[in-house]
Amino acid sequence: CGIIAYVGRQQALPILLNGLKRLEYRGYDSAGIAVMNPDLTIFKKKGKVINLEEHANANSIDSTIGMGHTRWATHGEPCDRNSHPHLSDNKKLAIIHNGIIENYATLKKELQSKGHIFDSDTDSEVLIHFIEDIQENLRCSLEDAVRIALTRVTGAYAIVVMSQDDPDLLIAARKSSPLIVGIGKNEFFLASDATPIIEYTNQVVYLKDFEVAIIKNGKLTLTDLENNIHDTYIKELDIELAAIEKGNFEHYMLKEIFEQPSTIFDCMRGRLLLEDKKVYLGGIREYIDQLSNAKRIVIIACGTSLHAGMVARYLFEEICRVPVEVEYASEFRYGNPVIRDGDVVIAISQSGETADTLVAIEKAKEMGAIILGVCNVVGSSIPRASHAGVYTHAGAEIGVASTKAFTAQLTVLYLIALQVAKEKGTIDNERFKKLITELDLIPEKVQQILENSYIAQSLASLYMDAKSMIYLGRGYNFPIALEGALKIKEISYIHAEGYPAAEMKHGPIALIDEEMPVVFIATKDHTYEKIVSNIQEVKARKGKVIAVVNEGDDVVKHLADHVMEIPETDPLLTPLLAVIPLQLFAYYTGVLKGCNVDQPRNLAKSVTVE
Ligand code: G6P
Repeated sequence: CGIIAYVGRQQALPILLNGLKRLEYRGYDSAGIAVMNPDLTIFKKKGKVINLEEHANANSIDSTIGMGHTRWATHGEPCDRNSHPHLSDNKKLAIIHNGIIENYATLKKELQSKGHIFDSDTDSEVLIHFIEDIQENLRCSLEDAVRIALTRVTGAYAIVVMSQDDPDLLIAARKSSPLIVGIGKNEFFLASDATPIIEYTNQVVYLKDFEVAIIKNGKLTLTDLENNIHDTYIKELDIELAAIEKGNFEHYMLKEIFEQPSTIFDCMRGRLLLEDKKVYLGGIREYIDQLSNAKRIVIIACGTSLHAGMVARYLFEEICRVPVEVEYASEFRYGNPVIRDGDVVIAISQSGETADTLVAIEKAKEMGAIILGVCNVVGSSIPRASHAGVYTHAGAEIGVASTKAFTAQLTVLYLIALQVAKEKGTIDNERFKKLITELDLIPEKVQQILENSYIAQSLASLYMDAKSMIYLGRGYNFPIALEGALKIKEISYIHAEGYPAAEMKHGPIALIDEEMPVVFIATKDHTYEKIVSNIQEVKARKGKVIAVVNEGDDVVKHLADHVMEIPETDPLLTPLLAVIPLQLFAYYTGVLKGCNVDQPRNLAKSVTVE
């Protein structure tokens, strides 16, 4: 799941271990490294990087080249043996790999019949035996063997290969899994994202699909799989080290929740032009006609990003009067979707690397759709695969459970909808003005909610032992109910379900008893009266009600067991505020239960496998 490699003049081991710690946020279950000491030496351990560190530091290592990997199990259980790096039969070649080799079983059989012995159950190990086999049979260079092997591989990969016979050589390649080369002074880094290298350099090259990077004798060469030389485009990273450190916060998740007033503000900066009564997003400038004339908008995403897309559905339908469908990227990919001329696809992704979303985009593109990406990580794969798009500019999000990226996605989606509605003339000037004025006030209202975070904290202490919870909301707050339920599941491992409030009577109501906390989003809008009835239905069955309400709402305050207040805004913008207390509630519940909130079990920050 995470890759770091180094070659240069410094000792590699501390750089690798530090890099692996920086990559921990992505989620993993084992870690390993390879160095030249002076022979090719590997260390790998199930569990946290700290285990690996103790193990490696017990040896005296002198190596200025090496690579490290954190693994999130796909094929084969998490254990020392299945961790990367993997070695060839002659133990002279080592590989680390992110992604999935889909045809590994066929290759493995072929190689086993030739006498190759496998040490692990992984698909990744197959690749290094295959490379070894090609090199031995064709008597070619390692670079050529890697290129040839990759032409026969189906699936996704970001790999780094080291060889005992070439002790200053690193070979890397990618397809559908991110990999960047960091260029320092007489030194090079390879990494699956920028976090492990920004403290050393801000000069990077983003590898493209099917590109191979060869770092040898202090020189970087890029080629394709046919060995044609590619130009090297060096880009500058604009992330600061402080952005990926916790600062004074106990957890990244808390830091990121508290950053939201400024991330939402940053996201609107230069785009929401209050004085000119305008919204202007440069990223969609060239496609504004297609967006305005779209017969249908299809939104594809996964996880929290999907919930942002679900809010956008209500939004686009209401103010742009265009039909919207929202689909799990994984379902879109393997379904038989109908894409017609004039359809626009919006893909939403924090990381810009989620495999399901990326593959769904490729499919929609093949079918002729215009793709707009809404992503957070600059330079990632989804923005590059899209025709146009808008960055959310929330800064690096390290906590596995998405918080500030979600509110930034919502903000961008509001801005897109407003710009399109204005262009189409489906919104009158008064309403447009009201919405942009209210949107502009959102950061300070989020700040007000955060100042009362102790309320969510005290509720967490009351409900931390619940076995299950139900989250209910209607309309554009229904996706917020889903998001609230997802957050509590991810962070505190309490089972939770989100439902449209009215749908409760068709099933979940059977679960309600005095043990069941039911979280309502009961803010003032056209469904308020209905929600109040739903709350009464729960109370009549002795359920415990926690309600997110607007300040000064006495009706629900009397009905509910507890309330978490949010300031009033235009009802359409409520999701941006209503989600904040639910994030805090999940966070504090997780912390009180002693869970690892920044790296919940089994979850990965960026799921680069399908
Ligand atoms: C993983 C993360 C979630 C995220 C989802 C989609 O499951 O743990 O927090 O919402 O992937 O990721 P994306 O980067 O595409 O938004």
